[in-house]
Amino acid sequence: MRDTLRFLLGDELIEIASCNPTLTVLDWLRLDQRLTGSKEGCAEGDCGACTVVVGRLDRGRLRYEAINACIRFLPTLDGCQVLTVEHLKGEVGALHPVQQAMVDCHGSQCGFCTPGIVMSLFALWLNEDAPSVSRIEDALAGNLCRCTGYEPIIAAAQRMYRLEEARRFDRDAVAAQLREMADTETLALNGPKGRFLAPATVGALADLVMRHPDATLVAGATDVGLWVTKGMRRLDPVIYLGRIEPLRAIEDRGHHLDIGAMATHAEVRPALAALSPQLDELMRRFGGEQVRNAGTIGGNIANGSPIGDLPPALIALGARLVLARTPRSHNPHPEEAASAAVPKDEGGGLSRRTIPLEDFFLDYRKQDRREGEFVEAVIVPKLATDALFHISKISKRFDEDISAVCGAFFLRRDARGLIVEARLAYGGMAGIPKRATAAEEALLGKAWDEAAVAAAIAALPTDFTPLSDMRASARYRLTVAGNLLRRFLIETTQPGVETRVAGLLAEAHHG
Ligand SMILES: Cc1cc2nc3c(=O)[nH]c(=O)nc-3n(C[C@H](O)[C@H](O)[C@H](O)COP(=O)(O)OP(=O)(O)OC[C@H]3O[C@@H](n4cnc5c(N)ncnc54)[C@H](O)[C@@H]3O)c2cc1C
Ligand code: FES
Ligand code: FES
Repeated sequence: MRDTLRFLLGDELIEIASCNPTLTVLDWLRLDQRLTGSKEGCAEGDCGACTVVVGRLDRGRLRYEAINACIRFLPTLDGCQVLTVEHLKGEVGALHPVQQAMVDCHGSQCGFCTPGIVMSLFALWLNEDAPSVSRIEDALAGNLCRCTGYEPIIAAAQRMYRLEEARRFDRDAVAAQLREMADTETLALNGPKGRFLAPATVGALADLVMRHPDATLVAGATDVGLWVTKGMRRLDPVIYLGRIEPLRAIEDRGHHLDIGAMATHAEVRPALAALSPQLDELMRRFGGEQVRNAGTIGGNIANGSPIGDLPPALIALGARLVLARTPRSHNPHPEEAASAAVPKDEGGGLSRRTIPLEDFFLDYRKQDRREGEFVEAVIVPKLATDALFHISKISKRFDEDISAVCGAFFLRRDARGLIVEARLAYGGMAGIPKRATAAEEALLGKAWDEAAVAAAIAALPTDFTPLSDMRASARYRLTVAGNLLRRFLIETTQPGVETRVAGLLAEAHHG
């Protein structure tokens, strides 16, 4: 066990022996370090004013990402480097190219959003050369500016690549320092308001989850962070999953993908995009860049939200969930298989069960997670070439917004063109992400045409009695759920018809 938190703040090594488990990075920076460049706008990951850049080792290589400091817990920085807007200045206060470009292009008015925008652009500058306008917009989707308007900011993002760097960021030196800090000890921090436990192996995680049944598991904290900043909840103990490298693995197994629970949305996106361009669009519209860099596939599923975006898509694909735990005795549950061939540190010796993803969601915020279990991985089948697949996310804003309704559909037809397999999954229509089994039944054995869609739409009220809330009324939800099936039919039978806002946007950019 290690009892001291270690990370780099810029070039400085920080060591902290006592810390509250849910102290946010933003509070620590502003209140403790008096680094007040990073701002607090919303404290819920929405506005981006608090954006900082975090460097972490990813399979031994340094990876820099923009994240929201307001909902990230300080101890999760263990083994990382954090860079704030204060770290960009060069010799005698020279501006970094990102900052200079913002000045040159008049990219700031009141200035409240500016440090966050600068840090999002700094992450882009570190990671990419000559991004397209659409990519710049993507990188800025998690940053709200209410006075300047985005044109000058996008112009700055293009200009920053043409300016000289006053201060060089020595990535090799940072990577070497982070490698030196890395270890496989469990970090166990005590603070006046509770304990923070961060195992570095799957085996140590399983033992901790079994020993602390009341612990809150934390992955990217893009949901849990808000329980603290908005819900004022006290979490003790916290078990953090982010140091366990094998949980981040994404493996292509030929017919399916094995995706570790801790793979972030940013990491998962290319693998899912290769399955379907509609999955790419879904991932592009998942939160903003900062949320995609922190939030994980396991967190999105385990959170059990009825409006999480990935569960309907994964259910429609036929995904299966792998749940793991330390065996409580030598007689594990008959459904569980012990995988003793792999050393326990790498996840061997654990009891595992694999269930269809839809079976995990039992009732509103109630999941099929047994004592000591955690989500270890998701198995995602690839689409057969003859399968029809569709996803639509309906939200009030195009970017950085959670769905009112999300529909994901999968169909397979036989040689005669009759539907032999149907999975229609919806978010936002019930207390859990759920299949429309009556509508599926209405499709089976039919040709894929307007009559089949009409029959499926007529069955939707049997499947769902949606709620009215701030995102949409029950009537709207039921109407849109049917209309999405119609869109699916149009897209699969009349490819020339434009049905997507993204298509219109792309046109506007080319025009
Ligand atoms: C600004 C903003 C925008 C967002 N936009 C979207 C959006 O467009 N679509 C969408 O679906 N969601 C969205 N979200 C919600 C959130 O980002 C996602 O649900 C995210 O995937 C959660 O993952 P996480 O790693 O941050 O989970 P955390 O917040 O760390 O955890 C969430 C829950 O899962 C549990 N948990 C985490 N990992 C495991 C595990 N391996 N095993 C067991 N339990 C576990 C935690 O205990 C907790 O109950 C948004 C959030 C914010 C703040
Ligand atoms: S303060 Fe708004 S995203 Fe952090
Ligand atoms: S400059 Fe005022 S909010 Fe962006």
